[in-house]
Amino acid sequence: MRFSIPHLALGASLAVHSAAARAVVAVDEDPAAVQTRGLVGGLVGGALGTVLGLGDVLKQLDQTRDPGTILDILNGVKPRATPTSLPEVQETLQSIYGAATPTNLFTNVALQLGAGLGPQEGGKDLTSIIAELLDGENSVDNSNNPTNVSRPVYPSAAAGDAPFSVPEAQLRAAIQIPPSFTFGAKPPVLLVPGTWSYGGSVFGANLRKLLTGSPHADPVWLNVPGGMMRDAQVNSEYVAYAINYLSAVCGNNSNVTVVSWSQGGLDTQWAFTFWPSTRARVSSFLPVSPDFRGTVLANALCLSADSELGLGPCDPAVIQQEHASRYIETLRAAGGDSAYVPTTTLYSGFFDEIVQPQHGAEASAYLLDARGVGVVNVEAQSVCPPGSPGAGFYGHAGMLYHPLAYALVVDALAHGGRTGDVSRVDVAGLCSHYAAPGLGLEDVLATAGLIPVALGLMLTSPDKRLVEPPIMPYAKALPSRE
Ligand SMILES: *[C@@H]1O[C@H](CO)[C@@H](O)[C@H](O)[C@H]1NC(C)=O
Ligand SMILES: *[C@@H]1O[C@H](CO)[C@@H](O)[C@H](O)[C@H]1NC(C)=O
Ligand SMILES: *[C@@H]1O[C@H](CO)[C@@H](O)[C@H](O)[C@H]1NC(C)=O
Repeated sequence: MRFSIPHLALGASLAVHSAAARAVVAVDEDPAAVQTRGLVGGLVGGALGTVLGLGDVLKQLDQTRDPGTILDILNGVKPRATPTSLPEVQETLQSIYGAATPTNLFTNVALQLGAGLGPQEGGKDLTSIIAELLDGENSVDNSNNPTNVSRPVYPSAAAGDAPFSVPEAQLRAAIQIPPSFTFGAKPPVLLVPGTWSYGGSVFGANLRKLLTGSPHADPVWLNVPGGMMRDAQVNSEYVAYAINYLSAVCGNNSNVTVVSWSQGGLDTQWAFTFWPSTRARVSSFLPVSPDFRGTVLANALCLSADSELGLGPCDPAVIQQEHASRYIETLRAAGGDSAYVPTTTLYSGFFDEIVQPQHGAEASAYLLDARGVGVVNVEAQSVCPPGSPGAGFYGHAGMLYHPLAYALVVDALAHGGRTGDVSRVDVAGLCSHYAAPGLGLEDVLATAGLIPVALGLMLTSPDKRLVEPPIMPYAKALPSRE
């Protein structure tokens, strides 16, 4: 590296903001070299903090576990740089999250915000973004969805399904059906969000954007009340209902494809396990960054890494996603460690900052295939050629714009469901891109910005507990694995 740190502060390939105005400050360095190398991205997290002038902020964040204080500090972090290219985004995210030893997620989010990789909403802070989140595409109150289902879906679609605890009107209102929806002329694709998020924002700048207008797909998404922070078993009711509702409102012979992010994958797998009717209605399941074994980082996410009580206080769904929760144990013991429908998992072995482990056969995303329905586990870095952008750094949200994710969703849809097949797509060509063709810098930044918003939701969520919600009677009653 030819730059000293003070130089960098003024002239990285990121355009550095001055306090008063945004300005690209001239550097005494070959501009082409600066452009291609992504200097800020080449730094390790600590040095990046210095460059961005965030040393004090990082220290403060390291010293507090109080959610309100953390949110105040994060609200005060303004973007001090403007990323200008996708390689630079990838390198900068790697410098923040790719460290060998896991670091404090809140200091990392501060770095992300400072590096201009946070939510790009006109300078709004996290508190304002969260306050406006439930409007429009994230509404949980879509109360005009049609009720003309071709077969019963509530209180039960079939004998053997678990009972619903949520009233039907509320389950139906969580489904957002865009005006362009064709009710079965094109195959419906149900988009299921993850913890601390709503389906509108999760997929709006990546897979939904790409699928909208496709001849192969008709995207619809779920906005689960509580942003997926409440009991994951209840979140699964929304998934189970949406699968049966969509397939029935689209006619009598219409299957659904499910694409999920994060906890949405776990909830879908729980829905398949305890609402068996849903299995016959799903042609293909493509979970992105799922955590079928939970995550060993759940503790740290709850700001309670060294709490004497172990977990908490923590959102119910986050305690359930602890590696050794009763929820995870119940799902896996009931057969949920294997696929029920053709399944293509998509995840990043380097480096998912939320779900760990996420590499090899121990990856939380890795599903077995005891029923022989077809499972393809796609760890991006194992499928993309070494050294290609697609084999480089991707975080928990980054997999939503990984070029293989979109290509395999389309491949599965174009082949009438089943799994996506890496031998049918141009792996080398796709992996030469950092983001799926059709997505630009703004989309990538909006997607990367999901993580700061997610943590903001976590810091403000009201229902914090020390123990996970009790396992529902229907799941307890299940005699043995099928
Ligand atoms: C749809 O199929 C079910 C059987 O699965 C049948 O009972 C019902 O009458 C059918 N509805 C329509 C509208 O064809
Ligand atoms: C339900 O209504 C929608 C229009 O609101 C229509 O397109 C669809 O075909 C109907 N579904 C059934 C199963 O009749
Ligand atoms: C719907 O999905 C099920 C389960 O994956 C599959 O067996 C069935 O053939 C599919 N039906 C249609 C009409 O595609």
